[in-house]
Amino acid sequence: MSFFIPKGHFLTLLGLSFAFFSCKSNGEKDMADTGDRVDTYRQDELSVQEGMQLFNTHCASCHDFNSNNIGPSLAGVTGKVDKAWLIDFIKNPKNKIVAGDVRAVRLYETYGTYMPAFEHFSQDDLEGLLGFLHKYSEAEKKSKRKRSGAITDPIPEKITQSNLLLVLEEVLQVPASADHHPKARINKFVALPTPEGERQFIADLNGTLYEAKESTVTSYPDMAVELPNFINVPGFGTGLGSFDFHPNFDENGLLYTTHTEPAHTRKADFPLPDSLKVGLQWILTEWKVEDPLSSRFKGSKRELLRVDMMGTSHGFQEVSFNSMAKKEDTDYGYLYLGVGDGGAIYADQPQLVGQKDRDMGNGNPNRPFGK
Ligand code: HEC
Repeated sequence: MSFFIPKGHFLTLLGLSFAFFSCKSNGEKDMADTGDRVDTYRQDELSVQEGMQLFNTHCASCHDFNSNNIGPSLAGVTGKVDKAWLIDFIKNPKNKIVAGDVRAVRLYETYGTYMPAFEHFSQDDLEGLLGFLHKYSEAEKKSKRKRSGAITDPIPEKITQSNLLLVLEEVLQVPASADHHPKARINKFVALPTPEGERQFIADLNGTLYEAKESTVTSYPDMAVELPNFINVPGFGTGLGSFDFHPNFDENGLLYTTHTEPAHTRKADFPLPDSLKVGLQWILTEWKVEDPLSSRFKGSKRELLRVDMMGTSHGFQEVSFNSMAKKEDTDYGYLYLGVGDGGAIYADQPQLVGQKDRDMGNGNPNRPFGK
């Protein structure tokens, strides 16, 4: 996902950046400034865990500690700039860029998009968040240093361009489902073969499953209407996570969806220990559609699985049947679930991952759920 700004604005900012280039108003730590006060960061487990939750919700879609993505890698960032600079920047990056802060302008020129402002964060939120950043950015730096001789770029040769051209054509537009950006969060497209031809479905994380017909879409189930506890916040991954139709949908009308609900909505089949904070719950639902051939959705539902997740990223990101399986194949009609670590690794709870009695991380994220 990327956020674009109109070209004109970008040029204005480039202009500004030249105007301010000579003033050193950045928070970069100068090697010569040995007298600098040392910033302190909260490192107790609870604060770091709370910071991790904020990071997963608000930052992880653009940042990690390994590579530059939509935003720069944050590895070692607490060693590069002052804490006060970080707080100022996170609260309002655009202000810092427009004010000509050298580092902020340089980042903006590289990434070409404004990081959103987080002015609503309390001092406590920021302390937790920065504690987490410090812990992981430092840890990442150290572990990288330890790996002497590690391959950093396995394919150093430049990739030569082919003569292939990809021609894109606009087919249809899905209606806006939010009054702020992103206006819709299209996540999955499924082509369903039926005796009368192919039907096409599109899911919007914000909650609606659409059927696409030529250049228009019609609403199939709307999760927010069908499920009173449905939520599509916080985080970029929450909402209607995924869906798929049973390969025999024409006859049995079975449709499967995953979605999110607030923490503690109901007792989970895979609960977290009481000592850990639940971020949200992911739910797998089976729908029985009354008339599978109709474009109007009418049916009943059955909850199959409810899982507590620590963070708000890395939940049930995929649910799917093997579309290649034939009736005689052993996995025909098996539903596969892609389950992330639910943020457990960032929260220093690796023991939750890799256990056969938990749903997640048993070594095979696409474990068959059952027939
Ligand atoms: C939509 C994408 C996006 C989100 C979400 C986002 N950032 Fe950023 N971040 C950026 C971009 C892009 C930059 C580079 C500066 C710019 O262009 O605004 C950046 C820069 C930064 C920097 C400066 C890094 C440096 O080397 O000085 C920090 C620190 C940072 N982000 C922290 C955060 C934190 C903490 C959050 C969550 C509270 C967050 N970001 C959320 C996109 C994002």
